[in-house]
Amino acid sequence: MSGNGRRIAALAMTMVLFVSALFLGNATVSANASWDQEILSRVNADRALGHVRVLSDQIGPRVGGLESEKKAAKYIASQLRKLGYAVEEQPFSVPDQYIGYVQSGKEKWQVGASPEGRVTGKKPVSGDVIYVGKGLSGEDYAAGAKGKMVLIQYDSANRNEQLKRAVENGAKGVLFYNTVGSRGNYGPAFSPRFEEKVDIPVLGISLIHGQWLIERLEKGNVKVKVNTEHHGNLSSLNVIATRPAKTKNPHAPVVMVTAHMDSVVGAPGANDNASGTALTLELARVLRKHGPGVELRFAFFGSEERGLLGSRHYVNQLSDEEAGRIIGVFNADMVATSYDHVTHLYAMTVDGQPNRVADAAVEAGERLGKPVALGRFGSSDHVPFHQRGIPAALFIWMRVDSWDPLVYDIEKVYHTPMDTIGENISPERMQTALEVIGSAVSEVIRKPLPLREPLRKAG
Ligand code: BES
Ligand code: ZN
Repeated sequence: MSGNGRRIAALAMTMVLFVSALFLGNATVSANASWDQEILSRVNADRALGHVRVLSDQIGPRVGGLESEKKAAKYIASQLRKLGYAVEEQPFSVPDQYIGYVQSGKEKWQVGASPEGRVTGKKPVSGDVIYVGKGLSGEDYAAGAKGKMVLIQYDSANRNEQLKRAVENGAKGVLFYNTVGSRGNYGPAFSPRFEEKVDIPVLGISLIHGQWLIERLEKGNVKVKVNTEHHGNLSSLNVIATRPAKTKNPHAPVVMVTAHMDSVVGAPGANDNASGTALTLELARVLRKHGPGVELRFAFFGSEERGLLGSRHYVNQLSDEEAGRIIGVFNADMVATSYDHVTHLYAMTVDGQPNRVADAAVEAGERLGKPVALGRFGSSDHVPFHQRGIPAALFIWMRVDSWDPLVYDIEKVYHTPMDTIGENISPERMQTALEVIGSAVSEVIRKPLPLREPLRKAG
């Protein structure tokens, strides 16, 4: 080696040492890493709760394909435009919806309606309520039901018989109340299905509303006014905010934060999923100047509750090149429950394997002293991304007692009229989720980010 070569080698060595010293120095103070501090000092649960209030209190249930979902989309889009984002609304069609309303005194509930019942439109049907239990024996109808609004405890296996008996006994309308949800939650409102059509309105109401009526009946007469609606030719939508890479590189890696903005029929959806929507809006505010080398996208999906329809539509319309640019998807769904039993914020992947998104969250949790657990779960908008080969994880508070068989605990008010700010939102859990997910996103967008080999579109 020449003298010059040796000098260059020595210089290079010094630089390597210098750079690694910087790195080591950084690692030892990683709990206070500046990019974490920047996020921690800015994310604000109160601000996020303001969004939850608008979505769950003011707008209320946001049913995929209905006006209420469009109202939510409009609110979200206006917030994003104020932050300076380019906002795209992406419509897609969704199946028909049968819903009803039950009014009793000052109470008015959105509930499900059966497609086999009569559609009253704007002309409500009123009458006194009579409770017949399961309504399967003659005794249940001893008091008679002619011209009455019959309240029945729904029994899925015998539902056709239940409806037939109500009609035979002269019911003017039927309210089935649901006893239990599919996840051990209180029964949600629903659209019951039957073998035969009937000429009276048939509604599916939640356990809580069934109990409310039963309690009132113990004290005297209860009158209800019901109407049912059929909504056809429906379109739902996604709202997508984009912040291009500062380098203006149209092929830059993309990092996404996502949440579904819809809720199930009759549920204000404060935790499921005004919470995730609000978290995503708040991160859009805090991260808008971060990660100049990547493109940031904040997506708000419609009609998740109707079968992941919005996220599926989004993923399907991506070209292979576009899909290959997405290096991570952070999907927030139920990120602020106040349910006592939950123990951890989970990063759930579809296959239970760690990926770049889950890893970043676990590492952020360690740095912040707010542990994030890794788990395996589907049932949300991370699924279509995973199926396209894109690293994605669902963020959700829960308690898991066993993975095989899966035994877990979530709030009982999930998917019910009680999923409200008052009953089911914790500002502290919202703050933790904001900090952990915010730091994780920020870490992913500041690391060198090789593009993935794009997965071909299925089919
Ligand atoms: N937020 C839930 C998913 C969830 C609930 C995950 C409880 C883990 C624990 C989501 O909004 C939901 O209800 N999804 C539907 C998906 C289905 C329509 C494809 C579900 O799981 O029923
Ligand atoms: Zn959800």
